Amino acid sequence: MTEFPTLPRDFTFGVASASYQVEGAVTEDGRGRSVWDTFCDRPGAIVGGASGAVACDHYHRHREDVALLEELGVDSYRFSIAWPRILPTGAGAVNEAGLDFYDRLVDELLEAGIAPTATLFHWDTPQALEDLGGWTGREITEHFAAYAGIVGERLGDRVARWVPLNEPNVVTMLGYAIGNHAPGRSLGFEALPVAHHLLLGHGLATQALRAAGCREIGIASNHSPVWPASTSPEDQEAAQVYDNLWNWMFADPVLLGRYPVEGTEQGFPTYRDGDLATIAQPLDWFGINYYNPALIGAPGAGQDSSQLDGAELPPGLPFENRRIEGYQRTDFDWPIVPEGLAQIVRTFRERYGDSLPPVYITESGCSFHDADPVDGHVADPRRVAYHDAHLRAIAAEIADGVDVRGYFAWSATDNFEWAAGYAERFGLVHVDYDTQVRTPKDSYHWYRDLIAHTRANG
Ligand code: NOJ
Repeated sequence: MTEFPTLPRDFTFGVASASYQVEGAVTEDGRGRSVWDTFCDRPGAIVGGASGAVACDHYHRHREDVALLEELGVDSYRFSIAWPRILPTGAGAVNEAGLDFYDRLVDELLEAGIAPTATLFHWDTPQALEDLGGWTGREITEHFAAYAGIVGERLGDRVARWVPLNEPNVVTMLGYAIGNHAPGRSLGFEALPVAHHLLLGHGLATQALRAAGCREIGIASNHSPVWPASTSPEDQEAAQVYDNLWNWMFADPVLLGRYPVEGTEQGFPTYRDGDLATIAQPLDWFGINYYNPALIGAPGAGQDSSQLDGAELPPGLPFENRRIEGYQRTDFDWPIVPEGLAQIVRTFRERYGDSLPPVYITESGCSFHDADPVDGHVADPRRVAYHDAHLRAIAAEIADGVDVRGYFAWSATDNFEWAAGYAERFGLVHVDYDTQVRTPKDSYHWYRDLIAHTRANG
């Protein structure tokens, strides 16, 4: 029996992060405001009244952070570029100091032997564009493409992989439909055009990156296998509705050039012929962010409250999000279901066949409230078990012929977990937010050993 999951020797091991969650320095070097700066100012929006104003101070400590990544031995680091650092109002004049920061970061990563994987949009929309309607309007898509072109021109010679968008479904649902994420709009089903604009932005940004000579373009799309609560027609129907809204509305246009429900686009006031072809740009790979399955039933019959990622869902929806029982849970109260990762990967292969490019798991991870460091150690056996089990699930799918090329653990360090503030800790590295001292956890050492083992034996 091997101690480690058996993965191919050339499997890409990575870790991921996002600008607003780690950088801090929100007013430095000409950075403009983002919707998250504004949202964090809203009383009650964030646990503990926290914000990303300082976060992990990565903007000043990037060298130390890259050194930790080098020691970890990862092949790739997935980070995101803050649009308001490059274009403080989202459009117009470029802020050179912002570009310089990422230019240095990319060079430091390359010097450390780490391939940069750059996300262009990990939710920090420039506030000035939000003031014009943000992703509810079509104009932002052209601004996003222009931003992609600017970054692509500057970094395209050195960035190994590009991720125009992170989790468009979460932005649509939590940011614009429910409102527990920035920009905090509660538009319900009126938020659906946001999905179309994000996807169109993805297509236009992909074109702009290609025009700038960028290679290896993909996406980081959040997906959950949807489990019907029962075999009753009502529960099956509710699960189908949810599956289309959460998964296929966001993956079908990208991979097949159509929405899962025929004619959906005709309901979008801004839709133009040709949009779906723009969205369906050929991709070099497809990234899945996976955390857990969704158990969905018909409304009314289930629990008192229906929740999505900790947010109360409004009444009157055609489905109910139920609690998954029978699995261990993280300290964020998310069920731990490694077979759900295998399931979603298999479903993608079945649904998309030859239209599915190679897959990367662009995020998976867990929050545990481990004890603080003692003598430079953090014991986090449950985080080790989480990544071990999810990588074993991937290994089994690879053995079965699915082309999964890599896995990015969320996250490199503990960081600002959006509406949950700093209470949730996903990192392989512990951060003391009072002192900014970083302490690698046991999971960091385990991941390092797994990577070395796979290089030698995979
Ligand atoms: C996915 C998001 O991309 C990331 O920003 C977030 O921290 C993790 N999920 C955990 O919730």
